[in-house]
Amino acid sequence: MKSIKGIILAGGNGSRLYPLTLGTSKQLLPVYDKPMIYYPLSVLMKAEIKDILIISSKQDLPKFKKLLGDGSILGLNISYKIQLEPNGIAESFIIGQDFIGYDNVCLILGDNIFHGEGFISNIKKAKKNLNKGYSSIFGVSVQNPESFGVIEFDNKNNLVSISEKPENAKSNIIVSGLYFYTNDVVKYAKELKPSKRGEKEITDINNFYLSSKKLKLIMLNSNISWIDTGTYSSLIKASKYFEDFEKKTGKKASCVEEIAYEMGYIDIIKLGKIASLMKNSEYGNYLLNLTLR
Ligand code: DAU
Repeated sequence: MKSIKGIILAGGNGSRLYPLTLGTSKQLLPVYDKPMIYYPLSVLMKAEIKDILIISSKQDLPKFKKLLGDGSILGLNISYKIQLEPNGIAESFIIGQDFIGYDNVCLILGDNIFHGEGFISNIKKAKKNLNKGYSSIFGVSVQNPESFGVIEFDNKNNLVSISEKPENAKSNIIVSGLYFYTNDVVKYAKELKPSKRGEKEITDINNFYLSSKKLKLIMLNSNISWIDTGTYSSLIKASKYFEDFEKKTGKKASCVEEIAYEMGYIDIIKLGKIASLMKNSEYGNYLLNLTLR
């Protein structure tokens, strides 16, 4: 069975959030108590994907390296590649070609946040699909579908096509920024022509798999939150959501150190070491408490 490599795409210029992102990368902005990229990273970790490539711009890549290093502190193997210009999401597979090798690949956008009971069972479905030669996308119902890749269905609820940011959305179901692809995605990405806006569109890749009858849609139900980070107010809402979650449950969400420990990627001694590095923060104390349980 092929293994699955993970890619986090964390480039772009973040211009929709200027001036917040003039001095830093969008995916490093805080969401409650941690940098945004921890959330997509935690998704890959829970999917048992340990070989991870982070792609970002030349100026921002060193900041991700400073944050996550080679990943060994979390029991992961993290490598890095530059995307010279934001030439499109599908360029990830060309940049990541050597990293992907002969394996399958899971791509997650560095600004996409997923949270909720049962999310892992959806990931398991995608992994099963890969074993049968199918790629998977994850659909979410939203109020403003025109800002995303929108799915069109026929009257039997079969997928017909996906349109990137259409003027008139054919449904309110959109494709979120998490994708599981079979290895041939590298070949398709290379063949792909840039769209009118000059990008190698992930939606074109999805439509290609769809027309080859090799695409499965996994719908995320209402227990699972897909949290937008595209505007100033949605960023605040995201932070508030995770603060409320912690107040209600006493648990931190998407805490990569805790996940690494729970998944057996690191032992209690390593967790204790990370906790002591951050002992002046509430976050560090939370980790310390985990070692005392
Ligand atoms: O979030 C889900 C949506 O993501 C999908 O529904 C759309 O089909 C998909 O095209 C994408 O739409 P966005 O408008 O959110 O894409 P955006 O250009 O904002 O890029 C998403 C993230 O990927 C963002 O954090 C920047 C990063 N990125 C994007 C491009 C085009 C890169 O790192 N490099 C790139 O070349």
